[in-house]
Amino acid sequence: MNRSRKLIQAIAGEAIDPPPIWIMRQAGRYLPEYREIRQKAGSFLQLCLDPELATEVTLQPIRRFDFDAAILFSDILVVPYALGQSVAYENGRGPVLGPLEDFQSLRLDEVEQKLAPIYETVRQVRHSLSPEKALIGFCGAPWTVATYMVGGEGSTDQAKARRLSLENPDRFQILIDILVEASALYLTKQAEAGADVLKIFDTWAGTLDDAGFDRWCIQPTLQIVELLCAAGVDVPIIGFPRGAGARLGAFASRTGVNAVAVDWMTPMKLARELVPAPIALQGNLDPLRLVVGGQALDDGIDAILAAMRGRAHIFNLGHGITPDTPIAHVQRFVDRVREMSG
Ligand code: CP3
Repeated sequence: MNRSRKLIQAIAGEAIDPPPIWIMRQAGRYLPEYREIRQKAGSFLQLCLDPELATEVTLQPIRRFDFDAAILFSDILVVPYALGQSVAYENGRGPVLGPLEDFQSLRLDEVEQKLAPIYETVRQVRHSLSPEKALIGFCGAPWTVATYMVGGEGSTDQAKARRLSLENPDRFQILIDILVEASALYLTKQAEAGADVLKIFDTWAGTLDDAGFDRWCIQPTLQIVELLCAAGVDVPIIGFPRGAGARLGAFASRTGVNAVAVDWMTPMKLARELVPAPIALQGNLDPLRLVVGGQALDDGIDAILAAMRGRAHIFNLGHGITPDTPIAHVQRFVDRVREMSG
């Protein structure tokens, strides 16, 4: 563990002033330099699997905003791709996945090799990144990835996957178990290649009921944490159970993660009460405050800083930055967090 990295210190439980800062989806379409490379790459998946281009795109937001952490440029759906399901990203529609009839036909044995270009990106980014910046590797949580695999595309209620999990839990468990194994392997390889933090994105955790949250969010996340530990991976892990609300406490204390990312609907004060120290908290500005800027942005930042004073905290949005965000607002965001702390 490199203690010179502020992000690592915060995840270790230290209240840092000003807090380390990065932005979910910080490499992306709001940046003209991203759009240029995206066009050059052809398909989005080709960009994720091209180490030179993916490295460049990962570093772009660091150069522009001096964030405290870079996040590997990739996507959570490279895991279904590596397992043998077809994945395409269609303009204006989001990801579209091929049919998935037989879970047994998913190829765990090909995951390591098919994702090898991504480990190469991790190596190249770590090599180019200055020592005080952390590099975050990531995967989607099994539940969230399964919602895309079963649904074939994104949805607002994840009904297809929820329905399968209720009608045939044993069959759904087979898919979740495959994803636990694939994700743990993928994260292990990222850590070995130089990632110093790992994040597990459970974007759709919030649509599960209580029993579903336990079985399909908490348990698979815990299993991944245990598999990483068994593989000798000692880098800290951030969990993002989006929409967990009152269940943040159970998530934090039962999964073994070192930090919890909080969505913008959850009051940071409540998260602070629910999540036991030294587990760090990340979040949770409404991405729309960043789009709107001005007073809405300043007020949002100040309220979060006030709620987190004295607690290990990583400043971030409560979900990903949107393509319509003005670059000047991102700069103001970074400046204000750094000026107003203390
Ligand atoms: O944060 C970063 O800068 C690293 C890159 C990153 C991407 N996706 C790049 C991306 C990360 C961490 C993700 C995670 C991801 N992908 C999640 C979990 C986090 C979240 O935001 O909830 C999910 C659910 C996905 C699945 C996914 N990928 C969707 C739903 C979409 C389409 C929606 C959209 O924003 O267009 C993608 C495509 C995607 N992933 C893009 C980027 C930059 C846009 C594609 C493009 O540039 O053409």
